[in-house]
Parts: sequence; C-alpha cells; structure tokens
Amino acid sequence: MTEQLKAILAAAQSDAKSIDSSKALQDFRVKYLGKKGELTAIMKQMGKLSKEERPVVGQLANEVRGTIEQLFHSKDEALKTAQLKAKLASEAIDVTLPADELNQGSLHPLTKTLNEIIEIFIGMGFSVAEGPEVDTVYNNFDALNAPADHPSRSESDTFYISDNLLLRTQTSTVQVRAMKANQPPIKVISPGRCFRKDEVDATHSPMFHQIEGIVVDKGITFADLKGTLTTFVKALFGDHVKTKFRPHYFPFTEPSAEMDVSCFKCAGAGCKFCKHTGWIEILGCGLTHPHVYRECGIDSEMYSGFAFGMGLDRIVMLKYEIDDMRLLFENDKRFLQQF
Ligand code: DAH
Repeated sequence: MTEQLKAILAAAQSDAKSIDSSKALQDFRVKYLGKKGELTAIMKQMGKLSKEERPVVGQLANEVRGTIEQLFHSKDEALKTAQLKAKLASEAIDVTLPADELNQGSLHPLTKTLNEIIEIFIGMGFSVAEGPEVDTVYNNFDALNAPADHPSRSESDTFYISDNLLLRTQTSTVQVRAMKANQPPIKVISPGRCFRKDEVDATHSPMFHQIEGIVVDKGITFADLKGTLTTFVKALFGDHVKTKFRPHYFPFTEPSAEMDVSCFKCAGAGCKFCKHTGWIEILGCGLTHPHVYRECGIDSEMYSGFAFGMGLDRIVMLKYEIDDMRLLFENDKRFLQQF
C-alpha cells in the first residue's frame, strides 16, 4: 500500500506539470482527490491493514493527499494569473491615442437674443405667452381688424391649411388669445415663428421669428408705449440710442407708428447699417384698436393699451452685423461657432 501511495504521488506530480487549462485542472482534482479518485480508493482499504501498519500508512496517505492538494492549489493560482495576464493584454488601452473630439455647442444667436429680450421685458413686469403656429384665420386676421378683402389675406401671401386654418403670418394672433383668456391688467410678450409666402433671399425667408407685445390696463396712453419701448431698446442696444416714432398704418392699432432707433453702429452719423440715414427701423406699434377689444371681449371704454411687434431675425442681423438671413437657418457650424 505504501508503494501504491508513492506511485500515486509520483503520477500526480508528473500529471501536474502538463496542466494548462481549467478543464485539465478539474480532471486532475477528480482523478486524485475526488470521491471516486485513486487516493480515496486506497484509503477505503485501510481497514484491511494490521494495527501496526495502519498509523504509518495513514500518515503517509495524509502526507500524499496534502502534497497533491498543494499541487492543485499552486496550479490553480498559476492558471488564474496566466488568464488575468492574457485578459489584460487583450484589453490593453493605448493611453497615447488622441481622444475623441469634444464638441461643445453654444446657443444660436436667435436664441441668445431672444433670451436677452425676454429678460428685459420680464424686468418691466411682462410675462411670456406662446401660441400655436397653426392658428385660425379669425385669430390671424378677422379679430385683428383685417377684413376678408385685406391684401395680406390673399392666397399668394399666406400658407392656408384649410379655409379656416393657416400658418400664422404674425405673432399678433397671441394678442387675441391673451385677451380672450384674461381680463386686464394684461402685460404679455409672445415670441414665435411666423410664415409668409416669401422667396428666400438675403433678407427674406418663408419662416421667420416675431416677438409680439401687448399691454392692456386702465389709463394706458401713447406715453406708456413710448416709455416702455424706449426703455427696451436702450437696454438692448445701449443707453445712448434715441428713438423716433413715425406715423404708420396697422389694422389692429390706431394710431399706429413705426419706431426707429438712432443707428447704434454710427451713433446717427450715417453708415451702411442705417443706409446713411442715421436711423434704423425696429418695430411696429400703436394703441390697440377698439375693434380688436370688441372681438376679444374687453371693454374699450374702461380699458386702453398698446401693442407692438418686431422681427427677431432682423434685430439679430443688426446686432451681430449679419448681412444674409440664410446664415441663421443653414446650421453651418463655422457660422454658429462665432456666437
Ligand atoms: N404684426 C405686425 C407685422 O407683422 C407687427 C406689429 C405692428 C404688431 C404693430 C403689433 C403692432 O402688435 O401693434 O408687421
């Protein structure tokens, strides 16, 4: 039996040398240390030994088992280390490779300027309202005192969705919505997209942006209009700009005016921005027409107020000296990165 034990140990030592996979290691364990393994088989026969032989062989058997277990554990360790090394080698990261380019976006100049304008009006107590881009013909024209024969209603100027729906041609539609939804005092601005059948060129686009404003309260006069709008342009273009109001016509206001600002590029001396006039047209405005109040359910004997509307795209072009409107909508990163 002693001989058998020594032979098993020798065989195990030689087998261990060729273990090169987890599978081989497990086979080794089953063969030498398992319940049906060679060593267990011998241990089972210990009962047959004499009293004197038993402790001697028993000790040897335990030593052989201990040695084989050690072999198993050291092989197990070696295999795990080798596997980890191979894994690390296959997953190696080359830290010297250049990193992917990080593209940081920035706000579009239209958004930037709109945010500035909103800030200014919020500072004067206005809130911001939005309306749908598809609105009723009534909200876009009739309620705003542009009757059925008004030229701007013609099919060649406006995108109709159906007989009563269209892509709004102006954000003035939101005046109507604001007045129908609330009783005075009302102080609201409403920015948004508008649509007209214009050919695309350096100063026209079938899609553009307007900001409408409306104030309705007791005792509002043209002086409030002038004060509010002058405060606005000074905040936007600088304290030095002056304003000028020229009489104009809009169906929804009476009296109506266009407001010019003294050229903020040349301080009124004359340059290409102001076409050498010293003045730049910025917006349309006026005291809201009683017809509009009537349509919107506001008592024009009790309340009065003003409204104004401006083109955001035009203001951005003036502010940043952009000479072609198409640049605002082409999404060319070389252009947009400048803001
Ligand atoms: N909606 C006008 C336009 O598209 C702009 C405008 C002018 C709006 C005067 C107003 C206003 O509210 O009072 O040309």
